[in-house]
This record gives sequence, C-alpha cells and structure tokens, in this order.
Amino acid sequence: MSKTYFLVTSLLLLGDFSFLHASFSPSLIEDMAKIVMDNYCSPEKLVGMKEDIASATSNTEVLNIPEGELLASVLSSGVQTTVSDPRLKVSYEPNYVPVVHPEMPPLPAEQLVAVLQSSIKLDILEGNIGYLRIDHILGEEVADKVGPLLVELVWNKILPTSALIFDLRYTSSGDISGIPYIVSYFTEAEPVIHIDSIYDRPSNTTTKLLSMSTLLGKRYSVTKPLIILTSKNTKDIAEDVAYCLQSLKRATIVGEKTAGGSVKVDKVKVGDTDFYITLPTAKSINPITGSTWEITGVTPDVEVSAEDALATSIRIINLRVQVPAIIEESASLIANNYAFESVGMDVADKLRELLANEEFSTVVCKEDLETKLSADLKTISGDKSLKTTTNTPALPPMEYSPEMYIELIKISFHTDVFENNIGYLRFDMFGDFEEVKPVAQIIVEHVWNKVVNTDAMIVDLRNNLGGPTTAIAGFCSYFFDGDKQILLDKLYDRPSGTTTELLTLPELTGIRYGSKKSLIILTSKATAGAAEEFVYIMKKLGRAMIIGETTAGASHPPKVFPVGKSNIFLSIPTVHSDTSAGPAWEGAGVQPHIPAAADAALEVAKGIFNKHLGGQQ
Ligand SMILES: *[C@@H]1O[C@H](CO)[C@@H](O)[C@H](O)[C@H]1NC(C)=O
Repeated sequence: MSKTYFLVTSLLLLGDFSFLHASFSPSLIEDMAKIVMDNYCSPEKLVGMKEDIASATSNTEVLNIPEGELLASVLSSGVQTTVSDPRLKVSYEPNYVPVVHPEMPPLPAEQLVAVLQSSIKLDILEGNIGYLRIDHILGEEVADKVGPLLVELVWNKILPTSALIFDLRYTSSGDISGIPYIVSYFTEAEPVIHIDSIYDRPSNTTTKLLSMSTLLGKRYSVTKPLIILTSKNTKDIAEDVAYCLQSLKRATIVGEKTAGGSVKVDKVKVGDTDFYITLPTAKSINPITGSTWEITGVTPDVEVSAEDALATSIRIINLRVQVPAIIEESASLIANNYAFESVGMDVADKLRELLANEEFSTVVCKEDLETKLSADLKTISGDKSLKTTTNTPALPPMEYSPEMYIELIKISFHTDVFENNIGYLRFDMFGDFEEVKPVAQIIVEHVWNKVVNTDAMIVDLRNNLGGPTTAIAGFCSYFFDGDKQILLDKLYDRPSGTTTELLTLPELTGIRYGSKKSLIILTSKATAGAAEEFVYIMKKLGRAMIIGETTAGASHPPKVFPVGKSNIFLSIPTVHSDTSAGPAWEGAGVQPHIPAAADAALEVAKGIFNKHLGGQQ
C-alpha cells in the first residue's frame, strides 16, 4: 500500500465524524490530485497516487467538513506528509486576487536610479572590501533595461575592490533568468560552464543554465575572495545563486542554513472552487553535486548566526589577504633551514606552486590554514616532523627536592637483572644534557649501578619517543672505553652550515660498561628521534645487535620558527646525521639486525644471550 493511500484513507477516517451535509463537490479531491500530478516538480514521488485516488473517491465523507479553511488545512498536512514536501499547500481563499506583475513602465532615468538605490546597498569597507546587498534577484528582462545603469552606478564601484561580501541574507525573491548573469560575473568568460539544470514539470523539459561568455561590463577576477552571506530567510533564486557559486568553489558561504525553497512556485486554482494549490512546479539539479538545495537549504561553509555573518566574513577575508605572505615566508624558512638543503628547496618550490594554484584560497580560519599547511608539508616532504606547531613556551624548570628527583628517576627508568646475569635497562625519553648533568650522580646510584656489573645488557628503546639529542654522546660513552675518543656521528646544521663531530666523552659519572661486553638494543616502529640516533650510532659502530622493528624514521629534534608576525609556527628539522656513507636514519628509520615483532623482541634477545652465556658455563 502506498503512502498516498494512507493519506486518502486518513482523510476518510476524518469523514467518520459524519457531518450533516456534503459541502463540497465530490470531484474536489480528484481535481486536486490531478493538479498535483500534472504540475508537481518531482513526479517520481507521486507514483501510485492515481490508483489511490481512484479507489478512494467513491468515499466522499471527508467533503462533509463544512468549512473550506479547515478542509484546506487538513488536506495540506495530508499532502505534505505524503510527499514529504512542506512547500505543497492547499488553501481556501474566497477573496484571492491573483497578483499580476505590471509591465515595467519606461521610467525616466532619475526614477530608475532611485529604485535601484533603494533595492541595492553598496559599500566599500575598510581594507578595500566591497559589500553588496541585493534583496531581489532581477530577471533577464529587467536586467536588460537597467543593465547599463547597474554597471555604472553599482558594478564599476565594486570592480576595483580586492574582495567582495555579497549579502543574500535578506534575499527571498528573484527570477530564474537572473542566475546565469550573477554567477557569470564571478567566473571566467571561457570555457562556458554548465552551472545548473532546471526541470520544469508542466512542460516536462529540462533546461541547462550555462555561464555567459559575454557580459555588460567587466567580470570580478576569479582570484579575488568572494563571500556570500546567508540567513534562514535566504530563499529560492538566492539559494540557487549561493549554491551554484559554492559548488563551483568560487564562493565561501557564511551564515545560516538557507530556507530550502524552490526555483519556481505556482499557485493553481482548483476548478471553479475557492481552493488553491501552491506547489513547486520546477526544480534545480546541480550538475556538479548532482544534488539540490531545495527543501533542505544551502549548508554554509562557515555556520554562524546571520547577525555574526558580516563580522566573520571580514575576518576570513583579512586572513586570506595574509595567506600569500604566510606561505612565502614558510617557503623561505624551509628553503633556508631544512636539514637537507635540496629537499628544503624542493618543498619550498612546491609550496609556492600550491599557492599559485589557489590551493589556500578557501581557508576560513587560522586553524584551517595551519591544518592544511601541515598536511601539505607532510605530503610534499614525506617528513612527519616538518609541520605547523604551537609555540608553547617551555615550562619553567621545576624545583625538585633530592627525594623527588629520586622518585622521578625511579619511575623514568626500569632495570632488572635476568638469569645468566643479563642486565635490562629501559627508558622512554632522552633528557637534555644540561638537565641530566646535575642529577647524573643520582641516576648512577639508583639506576646504572643496578645493571653495570652484568655480563651482557639489553637496552629497551621500544617505547622511547626521542627527546633532545644533547645527552647522546654521554650515554654512548658508557659503552666504550675511556682510553680513546671515538667519533660517533657528524652532525650537519643547516642554518649555520656547520658540521659538528659527536665524540665519546673522556670523563663520565660512575663506571663504564666498556666496549667488550655484549649489548642488544630493542626497537619498535615507535622508537623515534634521539632514540633512533642512538640506535643508528651503535649499529654503525658495530657496538650493539639491534632486535625488533624498523624504527619510526623521524628526525633530529626540529626547531620552531615563527612565520612572520602571523602567530603561526613551523617545526623544521635543521640537523641531519652523517650521510657521507649513504643515507642515515631520518625519514627511513633504522633496520634491526634481527627483525621481530615489538612485543616478542625481549624474548628473542634473552634467548640469544642465554644460549651464548649459558653455553659458556
Ligand atoms: C517526460 O518526458 C519523457 C521523455 O523526455 C517521458 O519519458 C516521460 O514519460 C514524460 N513524463 C511525463 C510525466 O509526461
């Protein structure tokens, strides 16, 4: 049973109240149904209606409702429910006089000017931002008459602005034929674009609306920002204009979700009765989205209350004005500071290309710009550490008592001694050398001394996310002997163009593990930054066996650079490891000698040591 039948039967139930006299013609419902079926813009929603009407019209009690208004409202809500379209209405209006739009009289020029000035508001805001409010969208016929005046009085004042706010918050009427005109002033002359399709039900034809290659006056350059303001009162043709320009990605819509009207609504008299059916007789199908704004409304790109829409759009434009400088500044920071010079140059070039291709022209807020810039940098460079960041100032150093330090160190390090006198040391973050130095004695006492007298050691870096690299030389030194200095790595610093040699330290707190006892380092794909540098050095020098997963492939700790005065910050890796013997670990990670799943790596390491050390006894 179709929905329509439900409508008709529910009406008939109402009839059971059994009014005394049948007040209206028995054919009334049938006549109404025919009007709907012949004119409603979405005939596919009416499938089955015909049959339902036929089977229901024999039953005419509903017509006993004595008052026209009441019957009309009952029928209205029934029809709206059936086709789920609030635009369909039945009304009873004995005194209705159809509005006849008079031919536009040949007004003298001064009067035309006065009419245009009252229906169009124009302003040039601070920062050379144009503001244009049009409360009725003129059709082709009227536009032909007033076109030259419009261009002279309005458009030529808008053209020199650097951005435009087009206010459709109060626009609830207009003519379909005006759509291509308005849209075309914001697109290029060529190629002609298919901007909308209008299906007209009474004629059963679809008309394509195309952009126009010739227009009176000049076009608004497609590279200038265009923002359309909307409200819940933005209706019908104004919604179509907003939706077309949004779908073409030419405009950003700021404001409220629009009314969800129709491109064309007609009011049809039912036979010779005083009933009228108001219904949408045409519909818009957007060729780009394949969808429509009708009934549901246009969803703004930035949803704010209608009152806040203007201020919000001014903020958006002011941000967009700064975008080219922000991207250019970012490009030069990366070109001049990124650890790998040729990669930095390449990233900078590609960033400038994105800017030239208008890739950043749709940003609506600073966070939006930061997110997009970060994602683009990652895609272009493949480097997770090259990104936007926040410039949170470092916390002032905490004042710890010696007891607190001991507690902190105890939870930061894990130690154990396994069977066969195998030491185990785990820590999840590297500390800064200057910060570690004063507490070195405490670390030695409470951590290092627990494992230093073992016969072999497992250093577990599976959860080590990195940190500063300044303490790496010191940490490495414990696994070498004190009698000679060893070159651990050469670090190239891009901003200064200098290379620093990283050497083992001659003096250490506590005793060394030395270069002879076996060492295994455990890794996972989370092992990153400073931890990777340590693994890289120990593997390169043949000092440790690496068991686990290939490491994260992060980078030396990046530096934070402010991008001009924009309050946007870039995190840029500026240092890289020695690449004279081929690529180091940055971006690619360090491969283990013995691959093992992270959670199995410890058992593999113990197995190897047990076999080796157990077998010796
Ligand atoms: C509309 O026209 C198409 C052919 O273009 C036809 O198939 C369809 O039946 C017509 N629909 C109505 C309701 O007349």
